[in-house]
Amino acid sequence: MRVGVVGGGIVGLAVGAELLSRGADVTVYDPAPDGTDGAWHVAAGMLAPGGESVFEFPQLERLLDASNELWPEFAGALGDVGYDAAGTLGVALTADDVTEMAREWKHQKLTPLTGSQLRELSPALSPRIRAGAYSPTERQVDPRRVVSSLRRVLDGHLLRRHISDLSQVDADAVVVAAGCGTAELTGLPIRPVKGQVLRLRGEPGLLTHVIDGAADGRHVYLVPRADGEVVVGATQEERTDRKPTAGGVHDLLRAALDLVPGLAEHELAEVTVGHRPGTPDNAPIIGHFTGNVYVAAGHHRNGVLLTPITARLVADLVLTGTTDSIVDDFTPGRFGCA
Ligand code: GLY
Repeated sequence: MRVGVVGGGIVGLAVGAELLSRGADVTVYDPAPDGTDGAWHVAAGMLAPGGESVFEFPQLERLLDASNELWPEFAGALGDVGYDAAGTLGVALTADDVTEMAREWKHQKLTPLTGSQLRELSPALSPRIRAGAYSPTERQVDPRRVVSSLRRVLDGHLLRRHISDLSQVDADAVVVAAGCGTAELTGLPIRPVKGQVLRLRGEPGLLTHVIDGAADGRHVYLVPRADGEVVVGATQEERTDRKPTAGGVHDLLRAALDLVPGLAEHELAEVTVGHRPGTPDNAPIIGHFTGNVYVAAGHHRNGVLLTPITARLVADLVLTGTTDSIVDDFTPGRFGCA
């Protein structure tokens, strides 16, 4: 079967690689198949099914958990992509922060930790932190390395082309995985949700866990890489521009330094702005759309986490016409557009 995948971001590449591994004749179309213009380039790579979950959407939690379980094998097949299973420390600075974060920790059934217990696990945390919790199942990966590796897998199958109309794709089946660009190609309701992310660089080893915290009402996550880089994210803004702002950077740095004062000595190496593809219910759109067209888009805050399961479900659908019922709540048809 000849399959055209429109969009060479992390989801499109993973769908293409999965189809290729199952014997399909795959072409992935992207205007810049070697570029950095995708949400994956900005994303920190937290694999956080609990921390990023929506309390009132158990079906989405199930999907996030199922994809999280696929990550070790998915990462293993790609080589060294920075998959790190040290886990995440949720932390809260003030009493109000504790009240807010504790709701999430309770929902995840995590054991609460005191400030000193947290500092035993991660001595760089501020002595002002009041409470937290450890989540061993919330891990991290480096999305930039994942994309490089997937591009290698798809060597010879990536075509530099901007698709403005799906009729331009000559294939037996077409998968639209174009992130925010999916809206223009399909009419599906996907909107850009701006996120500003910083990359700090310093001596390796300051942090050993992902930190997911609140500091005076400011939310921040810190994702430390083995080489000393610490990714600090992220703002969430209903805006379409690509401008980093003084306020956005200030809020992220202030929260980061409140929680881990030692980061003050790190170099501010990168400020990046990306757009999460959001949907009306902020859950992804995965499934058959119309005719020979399928959609894998709208993953909002969970694009990296949901990559392995999206690839598997879409490949099943394209090649066999059926897949796990876990996908039933995420079909394009729920928005009445198919
Ligand atoms: N998953 C993290 C974010 O979207 O900021």
